Amino acid sequence: MSVQAPSYIQHQRLINWVAEVAALTKPAAIHWVDGSDAENQQLLAQMVAAGTLKQLNPEKRPNSYAAFSDPSDVARVEDRTFVCSEKREDAGPNNNWQPPAEMRTTLNGLFDGCMAGRTMYVIPFSMGPLGSPIAHIGIEITDSPYVVASMRIMTRMGRNVYEVLGTDGDFVPCVHSVGAPLAAGEADKPWPCNPDTKYIVHFPESREIWSYGSGYGGNALLGKKCFALRIASTMGRDQGWLAEHMLILGVENPKGEKSYVAAAFPSACGKTNFAMLIPPKTYDGWKVTTVGDDIAWIKPAADGKLYAINPENGYFGVAPGTSEKSNPNAMAMLRENVIFTNVALTDDGDVWWEGMSKQAPAHLIDWQGNDWTPDCGRKAAHPNARFTVSAKQCPSLDAAWNDPAGVPISAFIFGGRRSSTVPLVFEAASWEEGVYLAATMGSETTAAAFGAQGVTRRDPFAMLPFCGYHMGDYFNHWLQMAGKVEHLPRIFCVNWFRTDQDGNFLWPGFGDNMRVLEWMVGRVQGQAEAQRNALGWVPEYAHLNWAGLDEFSAEHFAQLMALDAQAWQQELAAHDDWFTKLADRLPPQLAAHRSKLAESLAG
Ligand code: OXD
Ligand code: MN
Repeated sequence: MSVQAPSYIQHQRLINWVAEVAALTKPAAIHWVDGSDAENQQLLAQMVAAGTLKQLNPEKRPNSYAAFSDPSDVARVEDRTFVCSEKREDAGPNNNWQPPAEMRTTLNGLFDGCMAGRTMYVIPFSMGPLGSPIAHIGIEITDSPYVVASMRIMTRMGRNVYEVLGTDGDFVPCVHSVGAPLAAGEADKPWPCNPDTKYIVHFPESREIWSYGSGYGGNALLGKKCFALRIASTMGRDQGWLAEHMLILGVENPKGEKSYVAAAFPSACGKTNFAMLIPPKTYDGWKVTTVGDDIAWIKPAADGKLYAINPENGYFGVAPGTSEKSNPNAMAMLRENVIFTNVALTDDGDVWWEGMSKQAPAHLIDWQGNDWTPDCGRKAAHPNARFTVSAKQCPSLDAAWNDPAGVPISAFIFGGRRSSTVPLVFEAASWEEGVYLAATMGSETTAAAFGAQGVTRRDPFAMLPFCGYHMGDYFNHWLQMAGKVEHLPRIFCVNWFRTDQDGNFLWPGFGDNMRVLEWMVGRVQGQAEAQRNALGWVPEYAHLNWAGLDEFSAEHFAQLMALDAQAWQQELAAHDDWFTKLADRLPPQLAAHRSKLAESLAG
């Protein structure tokens, strides 16, 4: 198929690739996306007419829309996600793998004619500020206008990307199809997808992504998990940098001293809330600012420090649980220009989700289009319902969020959801010990996300579903940073989710996480005190700032920080099981540290 690219595209390799994909997928038309306002308005109107989007009441929620997915297409599909490296060992036990040649044959069959009757969109996007030395470019081909509109929010998307690419610049080719070709005259569905067949495939050596069958989130917005984590983590391994599942925030104290930290939490641990934290009222003069809420690309710079950018341009956040209490900044940023997906609709044309308000409205239309009342026994919004919104709307946006040089990182924070065993906060005594703690971190599954509740799943660095290569090699890559970076960030572990015997949370969380953050940045600046124990450095009660939380006693704090020797022996046994799975490539330093930890915890 010969394709006519606009004259501003001078990159012949790219044009040839688009022609090849078009020849395979056989779309009815090709649209070279330019990212303009007019184009966006036209696509939104087209989706409203097709029933893919509902426009919300412009008085309540200006310029905002709600999409409702097929009930079979509501989340990332980890069991259908593949990393097809040449050698199976390179993908590791943490990834599904098939021989690349076999997978290419499968994909060629699936993509043959898969865009029939649809428009194929060619989306140029930059992950990170355009032209930044930390940024990289991708081109996504998709047959979903919902993906185009979402990518416009989530990435720096538009024709100026071609100026950075020039005639021969590198880009990551990303091909996406909803996998629902239309026969001549066949009516489309509001949310086309393939309910039976889904493939989210990465070829790390050639840095390609092929996604088939889903129109949702991380399966379809290929700049996010597929490129910015799975492919970028392999680029980072090869080129000496880090692509991480981390938020980035800035903390400024009343003296104007500012530190940036990057924090990794598994999905459903309040990452967006932490990234947009509002300090308690007693923290006069303190500021917390947001650089990113999900992904960080981190490269060593000439001054011996690590610098991070948020490769994304917006937030694709989980809506349920977001409220004026949990995240007032998010509620403010969602006032206009938002695409919501799988939330519930109020009778006056606005949105609602579980946790938005204490009292649910008396009547709603749920995410599947049915009448809903508070006593009906069903959720109104899907637990993985999302908002898609530009970062520029975040009230706490950091002034340097778009700085091509990135921001200097002085601490890494790792956290999971643990009802027991893991204390509120501690600092690793060395880089190597920090890598151990991150490599063994676990999180309890929540009913909403995984079916079974309370099972601890190891999720090292919160990267288990996102690391594009063998996890053992990834740990080694982190360990090797010690020889390459002169000013290494400190490493901390946190656990906001510890409970008492009755299952009540011991820690208030949300804005009060500032107290822990203050201690951590104080450690970085050499101003906060700590005690040494078997795990590392821990604060005593007197080392944290309790102003405004008077009823929080030293005994209560001791419960939060308790090191239960028996529970830790079980924890170390679980680390052992986990390490056994990675044995073929586990760096020996980690097994050695495990033995050392067992000894010091024993006595
Ligand atoms: C996300 C996730 O969507 O981690 O960010 O699942
Ligand atoms: Mn995430």
